[in-house]
Amino acid sequence: MSGVNITSVLQETRKFPPAKEFSATAHVKSEAEYDELWWKAKDDPTGFWGSMSQNLDWFEPFDTVLEGEMPNTKWFVGGRLNASYNCVDRHLKTWRKNKAAIIWEGEPGDTRVLTYQDLHRETCKFANVLKSLGVQSGDRVTIYMPLVPEIIVAMLACARIGAVHSIIFGGFSADAVAERNNDAQAKVVITADGGWRRGKEVELKHAVDESLEKSHTVQQVVVLRRTGTPITMVPGRDHWWHDLMAEASPECEPASLDSEHPLFILYTSGSTGKPKGVLHTTAGYTLGTMMTSKWVFDLNDTDTYWCTADVGWITGHSYVCYGPLANGATVMMYEGAPNWPHDGRFWEIIEKYKVTIFYTAPTAIRSFIRWGDEWPNKHDLTSLRLLGSVGEPINPEAWMWYHKVIGGERCPIVDTWWQTETGSIMISPLPGATTTKPGSCTRPLPGVVPDIVTKEGESLPDNAGGLLVMRQPWPSMLRTLYNDHERFLKTYFSEIPGCYFAGDGARRDEDGCYWVMGRVDDVLNVSGHRLSTMEVESALVSHPLVAEAAVVGFPHEIKGEGICCFVSLTTGEGDDALKQQLKDHVRKQIGALASPDMIRFSNALPKTRSGKIMRRLLRDIAAGRERVQDTTTLEDYGVLAKLRASEE
Ligand code: PRX
Repeated sequence: MSGVNITSVLQETRKFPPAKEFSATAHVKSEAEYDELWWKAKDDPTGFWGSMSQNLDWFEPFDTVLEGEMPNTKWFVGGRLNASYNCVDRHLKTWRKNKAAIIWEGEPGDTRVLTYQDLHRETCKFANVLKSLGVQSGDRVTIYMPLVPEIIVAMLACARIGAVHSIIFGGFSADAVAERNNDAQAKVVITADGGWRRGKEVELKHAVDESLEKSHTVQQVVVLRRTGTPITMVPGRDHWWHDLMAEASPECEPASLDSEHPLFILYTSGSTGKPKGVLHTTAGYTLGTMMTSKWVFDLNDTDTYWCTADVGWITGHSYVCYGPLANGATVMMYEGAPNWPHDGRFWEIIEKYKVTIFYTAPTAIRSFIRWGDEWPNKHDLTSLRLLGSVGEPINPEAWMWYHKVIGGERCPIVDTWWQTETGSIMISPLPGATTTKPGSCTRPLPGVVPDIVTKEGESLPDNAGGLLVMRQPWPSMLRTLYNDHERFLKTYFSEIPGCYFAGDGARRDEDGCYWVMGRVDDVLNVSGHRLSTMEVESALVSHPLVAEAAVVGFPHEIKGEGICCFVSLTTGEGDDALKQQLKDHVRKQIGALASPDMIRFSNALPKTRSGKIMRRLLRDIAAGRERVQDTTTLEDYGVLAKLRASEE
């Protein structure tokens, strides 16, 4: 966390109070109602969460709402429940039994609808499949699948028997899968032959085969047939999903699990070393995602709710699967790319299914803007009543475009700030209560107590930029990093004593609204996904011609941040062919999402006398800034000129 020096330059004064018609029917109807909830939760967190917990179905009641202090907290101690029961079974006792749980469209245009009853049957069957493969409570199961309904079935089936799912986004490479399998010591991998993305096949099973050469804990692989592409099935290890399901019983009692039973691990990038296995547990996470889905998206039974995130990211875990399903909502899922076969695919889907709530990322919004208003204008988007944004700060101009062109100046926008680690949304408008401001995620949700502090942990006054921290624990917070509790303590709780440190810089304005400015550590936010500069650097130096590499982000029109790599070679001068080779190399090691945007060769990198690479100088150079920051500690001034000359 070197060089924290946060100056907020954004001067945004536009305000959008909630429309009366929206507030009238919203779950939280006014600023006063929100204030009351927030203060109740702040003054009496255990009373508040104790009463909220009644929104879950429990097999056994808990004795204590909260035990311990941050960082080592336990919620709803002694209680027993099951997340899949809360997402599915309990709706079967109501009229929702035959309500659509999932409405799905594949990229080629194939469609499927699963009612809650269908989802229950498939989940029970697959839970029995997992049992038949020897999966027991607590075992780790890797899921590496396209965005098809079966990914939800696989997750809920794990949850049903107490197995811990570890989903790896389908865009990650075989090496990344191997690394995560090894860290989690996964017993089973669930995958598909492939999935569709922008008209091309993503060959998932091939990647799994390659990954299993390097990860030896995996004993069984289940393969869903999605694309029909020829693949190799290894006898005794690989099984077709449909073969196993044909034999499976549709009855499977949900396991009665302790509140703190691990629900899943999700790997995310940190500023150093290997990816971090963020671990979430059953009761707190399910409650957090359920309540925030209701408050923030104002979910009603008549809604058709679409979160465009892949289930492989936390947004998909919390707001495609657990949160909306716990509320008995109808969830729209679309497998493919927003610009296939044309740039208006999303708007076509909204019109076709009469989507009412649409939740996407600023990087996508910036692409839509670039593709042109004619695409959304071709479609009737009047079914929409609420829009959401997540993953990175949304620039006010993108916010205004979203508001006008997609929302018809009618739909509130919820800009939701949260993280893989927080499990559920932390700071966001409540659409019927909060006055929104373009670029601000506004106010903390009930039960969330943020602050803006100095490096020493002192609270800062309004409008001063500083570090964003949480002063009170909340139910859906991560409990540990899998197999590395030390790293958990160090990463989140050692920088600012007594607080959870999120790694973001932010300010709070005079209305109590938060403006998040981005990461203060060496973590990039590329298209709303976190990537560690360190991981890209290690991928680069694993190439035989690379002696040293330093990776920094630079402002990128669509992705938010682009990846710029400064590389010094062991021998010779770099050329375009080598640039391409290095880009491919990183892609192979981590995945397409980490593919560098810029490679710049230089025979030296700017270093301090003690040998530390001065990244802030590199950031200035990558961004094309002429004047760089303080260079007094730089060892060799000549390096700067050479680096500037190393243009892409
Ligand atoms: O920097 C913040 C940014 O994304 C980070 C969390 O990334 P990840 O764990 O991958 O989760 C993304 C989806 C929840 C945060 O530390 N971020 C996320 N949402 C926002 C945001 N920055 C500003 N505004 C947001 N709404």
